[in-house]
Amino acid sequence: MTEVPVITIDGPSGSGKGTVSQQLAARLGWHYLDSGAIYRALAYAVELAGLELTEEKEKIVSLALELKLAFKPAADGGADVLLAGTDISSSIRTEECGAMASKLAADGDIRMALLQRQRDFRQPPGLVADGRDMGTVVFPDAAHKFFLTASAQIRAERRYKQLKEKGINDSIPRLFTVISERDARDAGRTNSPLIPAADAIVLDTSEMSLEQVIGHVRQKVGYQSL
Ligand code: C5P
Repeated sequence: MTEVPVITIDGPSGSGKGTVSQQLAARLGWHYLDSGAIYRALAYAVELAGLELTEEKEKIVSLALELKLAFKPAADGGADVLLAGTDISSSIRTEECGAMASKLAADGDIRMALLQRQRDFRQPPGLVADGRDMGTVVFPDAAHKFFLTASAQIRAERRYKQLKEKGINDSIPRLFTVISERDARDAGRTNSPLIPAADAIVLDTSEMSLEQVIGHVRQKVGYQSL
């Protein structure tokens, strides 16, 4: 039996990986995994349950294993995130939730508890997986791996626009600081750090439009429908 094909798109926040991945998945008619949303949903659930990472890690691991999470296609091409039936899509998009997710994501046991849930997204006809360790840990056998980067300033500006579109007001200088902190934590951790897989193609998207990034991907993967 041939394996279901996977394209992995990893990179720091604001590198454009979310938009690119969603577009690729839509154009190919493939499934889309927003792995960051899983870490964010866990952070939301941990906060709701009032659990502390330092003292109650085992409970957090259990919560991660049992998380009643569902993704529902949204009008904007993305997915609504439902936790036990409640739509938490907007609540998990704040930088505060991102920072909490990043703290939980540094723990190896918590990552392990979320691993199979991510692999289960690999369903025919194919999967575009977006995250930090898609190409290194979750789908190491993916046929095509990309790692998107962009300057910290550009990433903060993109994030500002994204949040604004979702009705969340923030400021570019503040986002620059919090995103830089989060990326430093994600890149510096021992467990699944934010690094390109050895066989990933690294693309700096600072000066590139969405169509240009998709053009590069199309050239590399050669799928006709892109
Ligand atoms: O991609 P997003 O910004 O939604 O991810 C939120 C946080 O979740 C990241 O900063 C990172 O710490 C964590 N994450 C991860 N591995 C992934 C996806 C996200 O550690 N595959």
